[in-house]
Amino acid sequence: MAGLFISLEGIDGSGKSTQGRRLAQTLRDQGHQVTLTREPGGSPGAEEIRRLVLEGATDRWSAETEILLFTAARRDHLEKTIRPALARGEVVITDRFADSTRIFQGITRGDLSETVDRLHALMIGVEPDLTLLFDLDPAVGLARATARAGAELRFEDMGLGFQQKARAGFLALAKAHPRFRLIDADADETTVAERVWHAVAPHLGRS
Ligand code: TMP
Repeated sequence: MAGLFISLEGIDGSGKSTQGRRLAQTLRDQGHQVTLTREPGGSPGAEEIRRLVLEGATDRWSAETEILLFTAARRDHLEKTIRPALARGEVVITDRFADSTRIFQGITRGDLSETVDRLHALMIGVEPDLTLLFDLDPAVGLARATARAGAELRFEDMGLGFQQKARAGFLALAKAHPRFRLIDADADETTVAERVWHAVAPHLGRS
């Protein structure tokens, strides 16, 4: 695919959405065409699935059912939004992608990693060129996320232990894959934005 495919990952409340908006603006100011998108969601069909998975009781879906729902949403997002934008040569920034399923469904409630990986290989089959992992103390992240989440609290309601497992999982994943850059998110917005730019700039020749 042409273009540059960037994903933003991290625990809830890590500041990645704010940073995604800033990064998109900086890139546009420099003359790049940018698609800023998110998961679950990023296409009309996937946004409908978003409501199903993010609202309601924590036990509404099993981890296995979630894997299917998130992957269905991702497939639609890929077909309708990500692939067309990359084909136009754009920088695509997605707030979450497959690593979120690897962590939130794959390891936080028992080991379902193999199921996640097999379905990913079958239905998605692509990885970002660059993944920024926003790393932050889960207690800080959870307080931030709970303060602003509105109705979308299903995952926040799974508690601090869940977010701690997720943080450890993300850090392990980052170590295993060279496409990751670790961003220390425990700083003011402008400092974190500088860290993000430092990680992204070397990739821009390609877009
Ligand atoms: P957000 O708060 O970044 O919008 O993410 C929504 C929630 O969805 C977040 O708690 C993590 C969860 N999630 C998964 O559990 N699996 C996934 O594959 C994705 C994309 C998100």
